[in-house]
This record gives sequence, structure tokens and C-alpha cells, in this order.
Amino acid sequence: MYKKIFVIAISFSAMLWSCDSDSQGEKKTEKDKKAVVDITIADSTVIKEGKKIAMGTFKILNSKLKSAIDKGGPISGIEVCSSEAMKLTDSIAKVYNIKLKRTSLKTRNQDNWPSKNEEIALNTWKVEVENGGKIKPQIIHSNNGEIQFIAPIKLKSQCITCHGSNDFVTAEIKAKLKIHYHEDKATGYKEGDLRGAWSIIFPKGYFDNL
Ligand code: HEC
Repeated sequence: MYKKIFVIAISFSAMLWSCDSDSQGEKKTEKDKKAVVDITIADSTVIKEGKKIAMGTFKILNSKLKSAIDKGGPISGIEVCSSEAMKLTDSIAKVYNIKLKRTSLKTRNQDNWPSKNEEIALNTWKVEVENGGKIKPQIIHSNNGEIQFIAPIKLKSQCITCHGSNDFVTAEIKAKLKIHYHEDKATGYKEGDLRGAWSIIFPKGYFDNL
């Protein structure tokens, strides 16, 4: 893995070097070059790692949710989501030494409220979806060396019992949701809608030894 990155780094470095010196007629120091190259390399690696962690978390949460619903219906599912979802993201975050959360423009749990970066990503995707475009994960590099991965979460058919319109979210489910969430904005969705985002912040140096 390290070797591969190194090879890509060399070729990107050559490309960027020639473009820069042609267009601006000025030479960059080795340090400047390295900063540009690091950012270029990281994106594909970040997306791969981000997707792996988000998908892995989703699978665990979804299987817990499914077995709770199979045993005790959607009401038990709500219990699992409210007591397990945040615990699960927190424990996976600890294992990887990252920050990990699920967020949305219309949150159920106010603790999942989006940060500025997350809000910008969600609003950008919203416009892209409205215009019939495709939405992609976003990568944000901070000056402190942290790298943030933000990826869309779309609504699937099995989510509709708790996030759908009034036709799907029964009065019983609504009453149960109200007990836990006083400011629940996360209903009214249909299958395929943009429901929210996974957000991962990788600390500085995370990708050095992958
Ligand atoms: C049994 C009910 C239930 C089902 C089914 C369900 N959710 Fe949720 N969802 C919840 C609850 C409860 C929360 C609040 C969790 C918490 O307290 O962090 C939540 C929170 C979320 C959040 C975090 C943002 C927020 O609104 O607070 C996202 C994103 C989300 N759900 C997406 C989905 C998706 C996608 C599916 C289907 C794959 C799904 N949910 C299925 C009940 C459900």
C-alpha cells in the first residue's frame, strides 16, 4: 500500500510540477510540492477508508435494528436506535481513533445536528439531487491536518416505518418517537430521498501507515 502511494505520488508530483511551472513561470520548493501531492493522493484513499467504516457501521446497526423489529416490531426498533445508534458510532470511533457520526438537515436527535461543513455538503447535494445530478462523498482537508469524509445516506424501503410520511409512520410509532425526541424533524421521506450523511474526521497522520 505504501509503495503504491509512493508511485502515484511521483507521477502526480511530475504532473503538478509541470503544470505549475508552465502556467506561472515560477518554481516551487520541495515542501510546497509535497503539500499539493499529499492532498491529491489522500482523496481516493480517504474515500476507500471512509466508505469501509461507514458501511461497516451501517451493517452492524442495520442488523441490530432488523433483529429487534423481527422480535418486537418497529417499537422495539426505536428502542434500539435510540439506545444503540450513538453508542455504536462512539465505540467504532474509539476503535479507529476517529470522530464518527450520522447527521441530517432534518434531525431526529438534536445531538446529530450538522456542523458547518456537513451542512454545506448536505445543501450542495440537495441542489444536485433537485437538478437530477449524482451526488458524491466530499473530502475536506483542514489546516490542522485533519481530513473529513462526508458521504450521503439515502433512504431505503426498510427505513420508511420510522422516517416516512404519515401513511407509513403509524400513530403508535409517532407516540413512541415523541417520548424520546421532542423535536423530531426526520419524517416525511420516501425511498431514495437524501436522508442525511455519514461524517468521519480522520486525525492528522491517520493515513501515513495504512
Ligand atoms: C425502527 C425505527 C427506525 C428505522 C426503521 C430507521 N430509523 Fe433512522 N432513526 C431512528 C431513531 C430513533 C433515530 C435517532 C437515533 C439517535 O438517537 O441517535 C434515527 C436516526 C437516524 C439518523 C441520524 C440523524 C437524525 O435524524 O438524528 C439517520 C441518518 C437515520 N436515522 C437514517 C436511517 C436510515 C437510512 C434507515 C434505513 C436504512 C433508518 N434510519 C431506519 C429510527 C429508525
